[in-house]
Amino acid sequence: MINDKVIQLLEEMTIEEKIGQLTQFAGVFYSTSHSSTPVTGRIEFPVNQEMIDASGSVLGIAGAEKLLEIQKNHLEKNRLGIPLLFMADVINGFESIFPIPLGLGATWDPLLVEELQAVSAKEATSAGLHVSFAPMADLVRDPRWGRVMESTGEDPYLNSLFAKATVRGLQGSDLKNDSQHLAACVKHFAAYGLSEGGRDYNTVDLSERELREMHMPAYQAALDADVKLVMTAFNTVNSIPATGNKALLRDMLREEYGFDGVIISDFSAVQELIPHGVAEDEAEAAKKALDAGVDIDMMSLCYSHSLKRLIEEGKVELALLDEAVKRVLELKNELGLFEDPYRQTSVTREKETLTNSRHKELVRKAAEKSAVLLKNDNALPLSTSTNVALIGPYADNKDLLGEWSIFGKVEETDTLKDCMEKTFSHFAYSKGSEMYERNEKLLNEALYSASNADLIVLALGEGRERSGEGRSRASITLAPCQLELAKKLYELGKPIVVTLFNARPLDLTELEPYVNAILECWHPGSEGASAITNLLLGEANPSGKLTMSFPRTTGQVPVYYNAYTTGRPLPPGSDERFFSRYIDVANEPLYSFGFGLSYTSFKYSKLHLSSDQLTANESLTITLDITNAGEVSGEEIVQLYIQDPVAEVVRPGKELKGFQKIFLEAKETKTIQFEVTESMLRYYHSDLSYKSDSGTFHIYVGSSSESSKLTKLSFTLLDL
Ligand code: GLC
Repeated sequence: MINDKVIQLLEEMTIEEKIGQLTQFAGVFYSTSHSSTPVTGRIEFPVNQEMIDASGSVLGIAGAEKLLEIQKNHLEKNRLGIPLLFMADVINGFESIFPIPLGLGATWDPLLVEELQAVSAKEATSAGLHVSFAPMADLVRDPRWGRVMESTGEDPYLNSLFAKATVRGLQGSDLKNDSQHLAACVKHFAAYGLSEGGRDYNTVDLSERELREMHMPAYQAALDADVKLVMTAFNTVNSIPATGNKALLRDMLREEYGFDGVIISDFSAVQELIPHGVAEDEAEAAKKALDAGVDIDMMSLCYSHSLKRLIEEGKVELALLDEAVKRVLELKNELGLFEDPYRQTSVTREKETLTNSRHKELVRKAAEKSAVLLKNDNALPLSTSTNVALIGPYADNKDLLGEWSIFGKVEETDTLKDCMEKTFSHFAYSKGSEMYERNEKLLNEALYSASNADLIVLALGEGRERSGEGRSRASITLAPCQLELAKKLYELGKPIVVTLFNARPLDLTELEPYVNAILECWHPGSEGASAITNLLLGEANPSGKLTMSFPRTTGQVPVYYNAYTTGRPLPPGSDERFFSRYIDVANEPLYSFGFGLSYTSFKYSKLHLSSDQLTANESLTITLDITNAGEVSGEEIVQLYIQDPVAEVVRPGKELKGFQKIFLEAKETKTIQFEVTESMLRYYHSDLSYKSDSGTFHIYVGSSSESSKLTKLSFTLLDL
């Protein structure tokens, strides 16, 4: 129901004031006295003070003192007293930084993510923010794309759970009265993760059926969780850039999915309709974007420069402008900004919130649970008496926060060296190489340090400077100097444990034979070093499982678990020629979706179905026992996949349809159950109807998506 205040404002606003509400400029234009945050595109454009004063929202700046000043100055100038919205990318924490989303995905713990995002919202709102550009809900399959770090991976079901959890954590349930939560913005609509060649901002081309089957579930989960904003993607969908795509935004997102919140463009994406080749000039770009349903033009001047004239010339309906302004004002109203433009922001509240030790504990737990043990030849866990040499360019590197941790404090972040040297009684450290450059002196020093140790912890990876937006790589290998360091250390004949700090799946094929253990740590956040130290010592038992496949080589990309079977699926172990395969590498990734080891081992038994037939209005029950067969407690993520072997269109060889993360003491056995219902078997048919077909289905239950780790059962869905 539209608010009376909003109606009154719409009646009183001039056309210039209305257009101002639909523009957003970076914080750097508001607060030259304060360092503003980096922007993610070019900002050389002729914005003037009139445009700044008329604008309705600000991008990428935070801090109680700063934003109170900016809001105060703005309200003094704004004729109708319409407050500014402050929006920023708070992706994996505000000051208490948790692991990058690709690491959070590996926790398979949506409730933990909801808790983390609530802390993030509490910190971000204490610093004056009203909107966070999260969740990034793009499904990803190509680790050449630097932005895979922001995603939770290659599975639509898992991505949808994390998108929902992020919206719930950020928004809470009463934005108007609860100033410790903020509005969430799901992005990038749509299918940005399919950028061709993994090259950022590149073309995306997919069928509508694929869009709905694979990419929509996560966006829809955010919509169903009442996300307040949607951000348009830079890429094309069906050969039309998303930001000017009426079929995608107005017909699908608004009409079919019922989204009536604010649609904001990505950075300069309205203006980019021109280089995309679908707009002649700023005026045509503005018209296309507004027609498509884009409310806010982020960091371009198309709306500022052109909308007034387009309306005066009758080329754009005033009603369309009013509709967009109404949504922006409604959002301000939902946030309670008309009642309190400062939303209880204060320097005191900010200080009390940002120094909360409980937040540190939580983000440390998240870092422990996001780590994935990829290999362990009994080298781990260590003990504090292990005579250890910590080697590698990431060993004493503070930058564990990830590329989107704009407001995190790198300078206050402990390094792995900081934590390990306090813990191990026999400890040596040597850098071994620069991050990407070879250094003979460092190499020799490292070999000397390691020669006196019993075990080597080798900290490798790639930093934020090689991840995130605009950071696509044509090859996903480790830097040659890091591989050389590993091979030289291997010649010493001592166990090597790799702690890997990276923000995308890397090609570890050449490294793997030279090391005894690999712990995937991601960019683990502000408490990452202490978390990794706990994991190395077994004080925390690794429980993470991958949500994005690690290719054997870049040439395998894209490789993902839920692929179609093809007409010539390679029989297991076969090297026959005329099948879908490579002659130089195996088809399977080096590490699969759902894979992750533990310091203990889990045994699956007594798997059975309550029936081998299912009808539409009942459910099947899968029952099995899980036993912790080892000597230490641990968590296992039991995965349920379903295959529809004969359908109206081709279907994935398997699809994740459920999972349970269970804690087991040593030697403990638990019986767990999954329910299977007809609704889990539905898919988009060639006519885009979403329904199931009767017939045989296969169930796979196990500890990873690899066939060797799964037990198969079958059942029949009877005619509906
Ligand atoms: C960037 C990103 C988007 C971000 C926006 C504002 O270009 O694509 O994810 O929210 O600009 O920083």
